[in-house]
This record gives sequence, structure tokens and C-alpha cells, in this order.
Amino acid sequence: MFPALLCFALAYLCGSVSAAIITCRLLGLPDPRSEGSGNPGATNVLRIGGKKAAVITLLGDLLKGLLPVLLARAAGMDADVLALTAFGAFIGHLYPLFFGFQGGKGVATALGVIIGLSWQLALCALATWLVMAFTLRISSLAALTAAALAPLYAWLIGLPPVYVIALLPMVALLVWRHRGNIAKIRAGTESRIGERKKSP
Ligand code: G3P
Repeated sequence: MFPALLCFALAYLCGSVSAAIITCRLLGLPDPRSEGSGNPGATNVLRIGGKKAAVITLLGDLLKGLLPVLLARAAGMDADVLALTAFGAFIGHLYPLFFGFQGGKGVATALGVIIGLSWQLALCALATWLVMAFTLRISSLAALTAAALAPLYAWLIGLPPVYVIALLPMVALLVWRHRGNIAKIRAGTESRIGERKKSP
């Protein structure tokens, strides 16, 4: 029990490090929480700071999800603990201790933890995101589609049931965090990839 809680807590702390906010501060860019969509994530950093800043943010948010899971795996933790560790990193991104519990929408960090849990699942989710992003050019819709299908992919691949169980609340929280995006998609006003400005 103690190793599981320790893994969860450390993963939560790791997830609490916002790559978007730190990258923008280091590069002298506006705070992503008060520009563009207001979301501290790679898509919004792309809008306000361009590709380089967005790639750094994407990698940072991805790694903070991936590393805790890989470290827990290297420490010999079982599937239950790996799933809890993944959930901890994801929650850290959404509700970061270091940034007043006001975090992002979880897409890059979710991809990071998924890579750590199963590269096959990560490939399926990434392929879904890419197909949606390149055809419709709406980042949020691509992420929502990939996230919604992730538990089904995990089940079809035959991953441990606890992974599927851990993915369900992650998907629910990710969808909840995208409720504003969903309203804009429905209204036809959601910004497309490559557009630089968007009202909050
Ligand atoms: O799913 C991508 C998500 O990060 C959308 O971000 O800035 O368009 O609300 P944003």
C-alpha cells in the first residue's frame, strides 16, 4: 500500500509542473492562462508563441506523464500501481499543486502516461489524433476522439483491466475539461490548428 501511495504522490507532484507556464515564462511569452484560449497547454502555446514553444511544451507535458510510469515500472511495480501512477501524473496536470490547482486539459500528459502503460495503446491513440487533426484541423476534437476511443483500444489490445479502469475517469475528466471546446465545436466556432488567436 505504501509504495502505491508513494508512486501516486510523486507522480502527482511531477504532473503538477506546468510545461506551458514555465516555457512561456522562460521564453518571455505571455502567460498562457491569460492569452488565447486561456489553457496552459501546447495547443494554446502554439497560438501565442509559435511552433518551438509549442513543441517544448508538448514534450514537457508528455514526459511528466511518461517518466513516473517508467520509473514505477523500473522499480518493479505491478499493473495496479502503474495505473495509479498514471492517474496521479494526469491529475497533477489538471490540478497542479504548484499553480493554484488551475491546470490544463490533460491531452499531452495523457499521451505520456499511455506511452508508459502500453506503446501499442499509444500508437492507436496517436494515430487517431493524427487522422482527426489532419482531416478536420481541430486539436480539441482530435484529442476528444482519441481519448474517447482509448479505453476501447486498451480492451481490444488485451491490456490489464485495471488500465481500462484507470482510463475511464481520465477520459471523463479530459472531456469535462474540454466542455468549452465542445460547445464551440457544436457552434462551429472552435479555432483550427494554425490559427493564432482565439477569444477565451
Ligand atoms: O485538445 C487540445 C486542447 O488542448 C485544446 O486546447 O487551447 O484549443 O482549448 P485549446
